Amino acid sequence: MCGIIGYTGKDIAVPILLGGLERLEYRGYDSAGVALLEGDKLFIKKRAGKIRELVRSLWGKPLKGKTGIGHVRWATHGEPTEDNAHPHTDSKGEFAVVHNGIIENYLEIRKELEEEGIKLSSDTDTEVIAHLISKFYKGDLLEAVLEAVKRLSGAFAFAVISSKEPGRIVGVKEGSPLIVGIGEGENFLASDIPAILPYTKKIIPLNDGEVADVSPEGVNIYDFSGNPITKEIMIVPWDLISAEKGGFKHFMLKEIYEQPKAVGDTLKGFVSKESVLPIDLREFRRLIIVACGTSYHAALIGKVWIERFVNIPVEVIYASEFKYGHTPLSPDDIVMGISQSGETADTKFSLQSVKEKGVKTIALVNVVGSSIDRESDFSIYTHAGPEIGVAATKTFSAQLAALYSLAAFYSMEREALFKKVSSVPMKIEKALEGAEHIEVISEKYMKAKDFLYLGRYLNYPVALEGALKLKEISYIHAEGYPAGEMKHGPIALIDENMPVVCVAPKDRVYEKMLSNIEEVRARKGKVISIGFEGDGTLKELSTEFIEVPSVEEELTPFTTTLPTQLIAYFIASKLGLDVDQPRNLAKTVTVE
Ligand code: M6R
Repeated sequence: MCGIIGYTGKDIAVPILLGGLERLEYRGYDSAGVALLEGDKLFIKKRAGKIRELVRSLWGKPLKGKTGIGHVRWATHGEPTEDNAHPHTDSKGEFAVVHNGIIENYLEIRKELEEEGIKLSSDTDTEVIAHLISKFYKGDLLEAVLEAVKRLSGAFAFAVISSKEPGRIVGVKEGSPLIVGIGEGENFLASDIPAILPYTKKIIPLNDGEVADVSPEGVNIYDFSGNPITKEIMIVPWDLISAEKGGFKHFMLKEIYEQPKAVGDTLKGFVSKESVLPIDLREFRRLIIVACGTSYHAALIGKVWIERFVNIPVEVIYASEFKYGHTPLSPDDIVMGISQSGETADTKFSLQSVKEKGVKTIALVNVVGSSIDRESDFSIYTHAGPEIGVAATKTFSAQLAALYSLAAFYSMEREALFKKVSSVPMKIEKALEGAEHIEVISEKYMKAKDFLYLGRYLNYPVALEGALKLKEISYIHAEGYPAGEMKHGPIALIDENMPVVCVAPKDRVYEKMLSNIEEVRARKGKVISIGFEGDGTLKELSTEFIEVPSVEEELTPFTTTLPTQLIAYFIASKLGLDVDQPRNLAKTVTVE
């Protein structure tokens, strides 16, 4: 949902901004732009399209400015044109703003500005910020920003520079993510850590309602009333290599192959712990999990584990449906938000609404210091490292590792369960050895118009996740369904053109799955099955058979997920699509 970066320091800003934007491009990629302080003037360049268009447009330009801001956009208000690309300026071109989020009352402000004779030049909600700051400017950028912020409602983060105050950047956070990076004689602002990782690991994540006044000499943080705030510096545990492709064609493929490590590291984070939370999960009447997309699918699997091993009821609700719903809550309930980014607006706002009712919250996030992490009463973490591909892969497996560990931890069989799961990273590695075979199968079916994904019990969410992966990166319509529900309607869709991915490891519902597969065969559907190695019966029933190593039934999602990720990856890649940055999507969804 848009990425922003700011740099002020001893070096020429433009390469730092462009490099940072490239690492933020996963957040939005329909247009990009930079604003630089060149002497006492603002230089602005923006382009519709991917960041390479912006880079090309800057070739050969003798830019020397050492302060600047940059933006990659995921359009909310206004088409992805050059006019609507950020940065946006005031009428005199003295203030430039880059923004992530939505200014909900922008129409009202726009009308007011127009009545005052100001001509706006874009359809965006952002432009009003630049005009407001210009209007309130009386010689101090910070004061003008604080005044402008009083007029804004919505969820937003923005950064502003002015030709009137070289070397200074002011950044504001209210609802969308913004971090400050602390360097030597240089400082940064960014939507996310990878943007500034080559320069510093020292960061200060801003909270909502905070403003950072950034110059090469230092950073001061204030609340929206202008009161100074003291904040601690955090050291990021990631290195730059983990945010680069490392020889793989796409981030997604690299991240698929990083799953043994992501799972292993996440498990390690739990196994040695005396307590994983400062509360006992078993003392609560009910656990509610709110999440979106892939994190929601991980939650569905977590529900089965927690109900089975801890014996407390778990409800899983889409975060986008929860906040405006009527789920009764009591202090005996506890609500967990799962989010790899820790910034997803739907999840964050759901947890905030829960806290307002006095109910305790737990975050399960991959990004330490993210908004959801900071705002929750308790946090647990996945240790997947940065995930850049828009399609979540290694963070999903890491979420499974965390949820399994949580269930194991509060179970009577703690030690036995931890012992069982310890072999999973190796089993994942083994499952990845099947990639070549999966590539061949993917090529055969890449022209299909629709796919069905079927599974039962723990592998029903795996089917949902497989379908989501295929949809989001290959643009092929795919439905995930509980295999037993198929006969209640979707079976009507099956004919000889329909590939049906059937997730059928040998678990308690294996026989039932075989019957469901027979039903697909009877309608001439093409059965692509995922099952345990050496399963001759399943192989016999299938048009294509993909083997994964056999594991105990509760561990099956760790291995059965991999072929579904690889099918999506190979199909999208063979169709020549942009696997890491699929159309219309953004990695971090910071709007409701
Ligand atoms: O950062 P989060 O885990 O909160 O993100 C939730 C979804 O936006 C995310 O899982 C999305 O569905 C992915 N593109 C799936 O691959």
